[in-house]
Amino acid sequence: VPWVIGIAVGFVVGVGLMYGLRPRGGSASDADERLLNQFPIMAYWLDMDGTVVLCNQAAKASTGYTQEQLVGKSLAELVYAPRSKQKAVKHEAVLKATGALSVSDVEMEVLPRDGDPISVRLHETLITDGQGTAVGRLAVHYDVTRLKELDSMKTEFVSMVSHELRTPLTSIRGALGLIEGGIVGEISDKVREMIAIARSNSDRLIRIINDILDLQKLESGHLRINKQIINANDLVEAAITSVAEIANQSDIRLQPKIDADITVRGDEGRLVQVLVNLLGNAIKFSPAESSVVISAVLTDSGARFGVRDNGPGIADEHRDHVFERFNQADASDTRARGGTGLGLTIAKTLVELHDGEIGLDSELGKGSEFYFVLPVARA
Ligand SMILES: Nc1ncnc2c1ncn2[C@@H]1O[C@H](COP(=O)(O)OP(=O)(O)OP(=O)(O)O)[C@@H](O)[C@H]1O
Ligand SMILES: [Mg+2]
Repeated sequence: VPWVIGIAVGFVVGVGLMYGLRPRGGSASDADERLLNQFPIMAYWLDMDGTVVLCNQAAKASTGYTQEQLVGKSLAELVYAPRSKQKAVKHEAVLKATGALSVSDVEMEVLPRDGDPISVRLHETLITDGQGTAVGRLAVHYDVTRLKELDSMKTEFVSMVSHELRTPLTSIRGALGLIEGGIVGEISDKVREMIAIARSNSDRLIRIINDILDLQKLESGHLRINKQIINANDLVEAAITSVAEIANQSDIRLQPKIDADITVRGDEGRLVQVLVNLLGNAIKFSPAESSVVISAVLTDSGARFGVRDNGPGIADEHRDHVFERFNQADASDTRARGGTGLGLTIAKTLVELHDGEIGLDSELGKGSEFYFVLPVARA
């Protein structure tokens, strides 16, 4: 998709410049109209109030309206699908209030005269005369319907494959567990060692597959969140229990610091999952024999949960990117420490589903604190 955006932005800027450099009056000329018609992308010349003055061939073909039907109307009135109308009206209001050009790459839905809605990306630029006075606006709709279809096909495919993999994998994991435990017969230490490696790797595969499925559900809006009133202390305790063993193996001390009586509204399992992801990272990146502090405190902005470590810290340039999928601050992290780079993406999405905010305080060489703030529940 980035190149698509690039092309669209290029078009808008290019045409904007072209008009801007030409001395001209307040309305579109024949030459303007011919130029606009050459565009293979839906384009509208609007006046400063957002009313259509001209539209090109691509716009007419895609919407099924004639020039006469479009001219004199606002895009919100005629072209946008109901669920994009509000956005368009808001944009008009902002534009009127500030006079500033504020639209670049906004997703909208266009409803053709007959036929299914089209997903478009809206770019808009001011058209100025030779003196730099704004004489109109150019709105471009880049059709991304097909791209969106492909994207969702890809996502569905990944999720179907993941599903199909999970069942046999769970059964392999079960069988290995039974052999490792000596339940199906005596095995030598050598064999047990090998089985343990196979078992822990199938655990890891199952975790990755579950992460991919979770993310897919989150992104398609299919994840059910079951909100209840929960005590912060219970959340932290459950998370600590779940990572106690790996902390122990890496010689990391877990130190809870919890204010009394904090309650939040949320899905207990999912919030524990967020904490476990943060704790898992903190443990993974901590030097042996250091400690990880898990805090839950009341602040002005809400209930703040923090996980602080004494690890390597995260450089400024990676700060915003660690929450993106498959993104790891250091490319060598995957090999050295394992992980797929989905943990923080899932954590962020889950926190946002709880109307919360996730963030990170870190200084290179001085450790990191990942935190999230949730609205406080009042009984
Ligand atoms: N506590 C931390 N200290 C230093 N770097 C961290 C810390 N937590 C996360 N990171 C950086 O952010 C990246 C992304 O973290 P994330 O949890 O999303 O993925 P992961 O831990 O690599 O894999 P996964 O969680 O999917 O098993 C990590 O690979 C690491 O580079
Ligand atoms: Mg992780």
